[in-house]
Amino acid sequence: MTDGFADILIRWYADNHRRLPWRETSDPYLIWLSEVILQQTRVAQGLDYFRRFVARFPDVRSLAEAPQDEVLKLWQGLGYYSRARSLHTAAKDIMARFGGRFPEDYEAVRSLCGVGDYTAAAICSFAYELPYAAVDGNVYRVLSRVYDVDLPVDDAAGKRYFAELAQSLLDPVRPGLQNQATMEFGALQCVPQRPDCGACPLADRCLAQAHGTVGRRPVKRGK
Ligand code: ADE
Repeated sequence: MTDGFADILIRWYADNHRRLPWRETSDPYLIWLSEVILQQTRVAQGLDYFRRFVARFPDVRSLAEAPQDEVLKLWQGLGYYSRARSLHTAAKDIMARFGGRFPEDYEAVRSLCGVGDYTAAAICSFAYELPYAAVDGNVYRVLSRVYDVDLPVDDAAGKRYFAELAQSLLDPVRPGLQNQATMEFGALQCVPQRPDCGACPLADRCLAQAHGTVGRRPVKRGK
């Protein structure tokens, strides 16, 4: 029997992933914080901010009780300040609605200020091993190439298609690991420009590689 998509990515991940602090924890608060920081920020820049945030605000309560000025000050340099304001609002909301305990089901996590489908799936799969596919830009790229999908990733129909494809490929036994592995694979191996397809463990099943369309995936409708 041939290995499945998840097996190959997880094996690749075991051999190639970067050791990052939010991958060494199952604390939903820390995972949430890392995902919000990484929403529009590269890992190399986000790392320092993550460490400083955790040192100053080690848990939901300390963040909720801080003055907003202080939260925004720690965020300085990261840009997109609405992320920091939402983080602070959500921390206060977790205190008020959930008694300070980070919510444990998808709908409750998704209801927090600033948390969209991707972030809710990332938190729930990494922290709780709930079977939700987390689909970010890296995942769009990997799936659009392996399945040679020419639907745009930036319109509603395309997003729905990729969300369903990712969900159908998710191994419910280890969704957190598979989500991390797919994202990391997109970040390090299946890169936007000139990917090294000769070294790719999915090359023999990659339809874009077979069709010569790797450089044209993913498709963007543009503005
Ligand atoms: N970008 C967004 N989430 C990430 C994660 N969990 N690890 C690395 N990069 C990411």
